[in-house]
Amino acid sequence: MPNLVVIGTQWGDEGKGKIVDLLAERADAVVRFQGGNNAGHTMVVNQEQFISHLLPSGILQGKTCYIGNGVVVDPQVLLEEIDFFQSKGIEISPQKLSISERAHLILPHHKIIDHGREALKGKAKIGTTGRGIGPCYEDKAARRGIRFVELCDPELFAKAINEVLIEKNHYIEHYLKMEPCDVTAIIREYQDYGNRLKPYVTNVSVALSHKIRNHQNILFEGAQGTHLDIDHGTYPFVTSSNTVSGNACNGSGVGPKDLDHVLGIVKAYTTRVGQGPFPTELLDEIGDRIQKKGAEFGATTGRRRRCGWLDLVLIENAARLNGLTCFAITKLDVLTGLETINICTGYEYNGTPIEGFPGNLNILAACKPIYETLPGWSEDLTNIRNYEELPLNPRDYLERIETITGISIHIVSVGPGREQTIIKKHPFL
Ligand code: GDP
Ligand code: IMO
Ligand code: MG
Repeated sequence: MPNLVVIGTQWGDEGKGKIVDLLAERADAVVRFQGGNNAGHTMVVNQEQFISHLLPSGILQGKTCYIGNGVVVDPQVLLEEIDFFQSKGIEISPQKLSISERAHLILPHHKIIDHGREALKGKAKIGTTGRGIGPCYEDKAARRGIRFVELCDPELFAKAINEVLIEKNHYIEHYLKMEPCDVTAIIREYQDYGNRLKPYVTNVSVALSHKIRNHQNILFEGAQGTHLDIDHGTYPFVTSSNTVSGNACNGSGVGPKDLDHVLGIVKAYTTRVGQGPFPTELLDEIGDRIQKKGAEFGATTGRRRRCGWLDLVLIENAARLNGLTCFAITKLDVLTGLETINICTGYEYNGTPIEGFPGNLNILAACKPIYETLPGWSEDLTNIRNYEELPLNPRDYLERIETITGISIHIVSVGPGREQTIIKKHPFL
């Protein structure tokens, strides 16, 4: 049975939650492998909306969910999320949810530092989600992070937090000019989290290897998007983890030969939250219209998402970086009602077409998109379930994407609901 990685191809919020929830029906396990509660993944089932920040989007389908070693976990947020889903009647037990003992903890000082640094940067800020993601990964790389291993052992935790706060409190108080952390209060608070979460903590790599040996379907759920990747994205306007498919291995403890397919989620237009260059951004009434019709507000921070035309330079970049084997196009319904629709097929810099996606942000910011203009459509697509029923113009739009990129579209999403989906080819069938 195949294993599948689902990846955002743009700057996040492509509709990963919806597609993972849908595909999870036929999966045996769903795994988060990077990021943290900077993610906001929306699932809509029977008109009820659920947003998960840390729990994998297989939770509503009752699948076994794993939080891999590559995820940074704020235990308070995780417990709130567990309580929320349980209050909705969804079973979350150690049989249904496992957390890697090696996953790093987001601690109070990470959130303080995230906010403090952004405030100091003023206009030059990244526009982070303020969830402490960057400072936590930074400590992981500096080998002073604290993991679930320590959370589950009060003595280890107390020793580690005491050590780390000597430096952090100095930085917070004297550099950021903010209130330092109270170590005793943190130890008390985190002991409580440790007691509650300990039953869920395990070696996720070993657990997944059993599933792989038993030929079960595993779905790896990416967070953020390819162009927020710390190495391959629009650095420094990126998140602090690798968001590309290769990190499904590192972030969960499986080998690369166990990944079979990589599905790239492509929103039918482009959005971005936070700062950073965005060549196809629409700062006009069409951008406003897409923003309103697509309800483009951040699922984590509620910020208004910047909107623009579909950028195939990004998508081709994502195809190469992730080894994409197929696409799911989401939010096609949002483009209904536009007279014409632009697709960016390349960039021009200083009046000359350039190859690929520039690493130099000053060049990227100065790039002008080269557009191909296609006719729009006025038909409501939200009730269409078969590809053949799609009107000609949206089909032409999709087929143009396939022709230019050379990658087949297997899924088309025409509304937020789980059922508002056209499945041309199911990855688990
Ligand atoms: P994620 O972070 O990639 O999981 O995406 P988000 O959940 O942050 O943002 C996607 C938003 O679009 C959510 O509000 C979804 O409910 C919604 N959505 C997903 N697919 C579709 C679609 O095909 N059409 C419409 N209109 N909304 C969709
Ligand atoms: P999902 O999984 C969209 C953006 C932030 C900011 C940058 C760095 O829902 O697609 P961070 O808090 O990670 O240090 O912020 O990354 N960002 C996202 N944008 N969707 C996300 O997640 C994001 N997670 C982080 O807005 O620009
Ligand atoms: Mg999101």
